[in-house]
Amino acid sequence: MHTDLSLAPIGVFDSGVGGLTVAREIMRQLPNEKIVYFGDTARVPYGSKSKNTIIRYSKQIIRFLKTKGVKAIVVACNTASAIALEEIRPEMDIPIIGVVKPGAKVAAQKTVNKRIGVIGTEAMINSGIYTEFINRRDKDITVITKACPLFVPLVEEGWLKDSVTYEVATRYLSELKDKDIDTLVLGCTHYPLLRNTVGEIMGDGVSLVNPAYETAVSLKKLLEENNIAAGNEHRYASNMYEFYVSDTAEKFKRFANSILPFHIESIGLINIEEY
Ligand code: DGL
Repeated sequence: MHTDLSLAPIGVFDSGVGGLTVAREIMRQLPNEKIVYFGDTARVPYGSKSKNTIIRYSKQIIRFLKTKGVKAIVVACNTASAIALEEIRPEMDIPIIGVVKPGAKVAAQKTVNKRIGVIGTEAMINSGIYTEFINRRDKDITVITKACPLFVPLVEEGWLKDSVTYEVATRYLSELKDKDIDTLVLGCTHYPLLRNTVGEIMGDGVSLVNPAYETAVSLKKLLEENNIAAGNEHRYASNMYEFYVSDTAEKFKRFANSILPFHIESIGLINIEEY
């Protein structure tokens, strides 16, 4: 038996296209769930913004997603998860999860030599949140962090396999290469799109952690606990997913169509400042 809410969609948001890496994983693991995705393409990047701004943006997006009747929200952005999630949680009347806790969990489970690297945006890295969550699981783990602010614009530009991206990544990652880490968290939802480049530079001895997989696992659990998971009977193919952006829908659409397993026809343009 499912409640009526089980028919409602999951709201997923990010500053731009990065959260699509999480949405894609939710589609894979929870194929019965509908998704309403919002990418804040007008205001990306979040990683260089202040705490107050990131909280304000996140609240506006949540208000917008709630107008779509979502039953739960996934903050598919490490920066917003790190900066805004705990501020917002007390005001929420529906379940909400972020990507940092699931990412920290996998990394702590995966490391053998107890040395983990974390890369992400400046705001996320400065928050110290991965170190805190990883050390809550195991205080003997050493966490080495590095902000990679140019990665987000490179991904938003679609320069996933480009010599410029390779050069930038080589410079950022050189600091982590001699730190003897065996695990590296891709602590920004844009970064899994640079996985091949990062993997090539770090070498075979370093496992890359994409928090998206574990986030979808945690979401499944959360929906079940709240008795709002969609049943098989609710699966309906073509219009299960809705996409909204705050600017440049065409660019977002091209990008989304290059990484999602189906073709998106329409993307809604929203004036997010109205929410
Ligand atoms: N994709 C986001 C993250 O996971 C934010 C990137 C940005 O807007 O700076 O941190």
